[in-house]
Amino acid sequence: MSNGLSEQARAAAAAVDGERLWSRLMAMAAIGARADGGVCRQALTREDRDARAVLTGWARARGLRVSVDAAANLFVTRPGARDLPPLLIGSHMDSQPAGGRFDGIYGVLAAFEVLEALEDAGLGTGRPIEMVAWTNEEGGRFPCGCTGSMSWSGEAPLENFLDVVGADGVVLRDALAETLAASPDIERRGLGGGAHAYIEAHIEQGPVLEREGLAIAAVTSIQGFRMSHVTVTGTPGHAGTTPMAARRDAVQGALRAIAALNELMADPSDTVRFTVGCIDVEPNSPNTIPARARFSIDFRHPEEAVLEARYARIEAAVRAAAAPCDADLEHESSMSPGVFPAPVVAAIEAAARDLGLPAMRLPSGAFHDALFIARACPAGMLFIPCKAGLSHHPDEYATPQDCEAGARVLAATAMQLAEATLS
Ligand code: GLV
Ligand code: MN
Ligand code: MN
Repeated sequence: MSNGLSEQARAAAAAVDGERLWSRLMAMAAIGARADGGVCRQALTREDRDARAVLTGWARARGLRVSVDAAANLFVTRPGARDLPPLLIGSHMDSQPAGGRFDGIYGVLAAFEVLEALEDAGLGTGRPIEMVAWTNEEGGRFPCGCTGSMSWSGEAPLENFLDVVGADGVVLRDALAETLAASPDIERRGLGGGAHAYIEAHIEQGPVLEREGLAIAAVTSIQGFRMSHVTVTGTPGHAGTTPMAARRDAVQGALRAIAALNELMADPSDTVRFTVGCIDVEPNSPNTIPARARFSIDFRHPEEAVLEARYARIEAAVRAAAAPCDADLEHESSMSPGVFPAPVVAAIEAAARDLGLPAMRLPSGAFHDALFIARACPAGMLFIPCKAGLSHHPDEYATPQDCEAGARVLAATAMQLAEATLS
């Protein structure tokens, strides 16, 4: 694989149509478009279903087979000459509530563009190549991000997620059923089944490629995380009459708990990532002392030992700081850092260089479906630059040229890996 790209791989890259990819990206950006230029296309909503229907229509117009599994992971298959495990390429179509036009959907449409390029160029492969769109990567609506890839890879059974209640009160089981029922004509397939390899293209979501003036990063690893919620419980009362000294104010308790967590997470090397992204207050009335405050914890680090050690201290820290209120920690999910196999990283880097695109290696600060798919088959990722490193933001942007370059590298890597022995 390191001896340069095959003729087939170069032909696949050359057949990528950047204008078609861009027009598909903009068509998807219109589904759930926000007034501020961003996108709200959260998992298993009407907008998500609309996006699935549009993609299904494009696939069928090209004569490609569309199928869906019990987790609503959506597949588009281009058959191979032999009955072999497929090479998977893709990402996710769901967005954050105030998300951008590229996170996730870029990787899905770049993968779809690869299938179209292979069709246009009449290039056959030994094994099937399948585009996949994983369900609920973001976790913005249902706080169990990567539901589709976790249940496909066997990381966790789908049943574990079915009772999760969304930010809008809808239960995941019902939203999933509604999504599957919306397209009864799509062929059903089993959940899982393995793959030869998986490659995901994504915007970097950070500033490095733009700063270095490079087109592509071959992603080496993804940092691990711990996600949880803290509930602080106080005593409700009248804001005008209850003496300050006698109060058990849940919001004040939560503020002390968050301040204590900031101290616990302090890191002069700026490697720790710690975010409180959600705060819910009950009863949420300006003149009632808050009875309950619930906040989220998103804690990430590239080293498992650091994750373990600091996370183990969170519960005691919030309890002590929230007193005299009570505080409870509900653990939601955890993932160890993941390292992508060296041959896959090398194949992506070599493909970029062979196509004349300057590349580097980078770890990922964000998590991605590839982290979980890597438990089931060799997996890897490539990044393209995004403007000012912005992501999970309505102004998220990647240029048409960079989108095209990433799809070319994806096409070449897919062709190389489809024929390679990886185990
Ligand atoms: C995925 O979007 C993440 O939060 O890393
Ligand atoms: Mn993403
Ligand atoms: Mn995201």
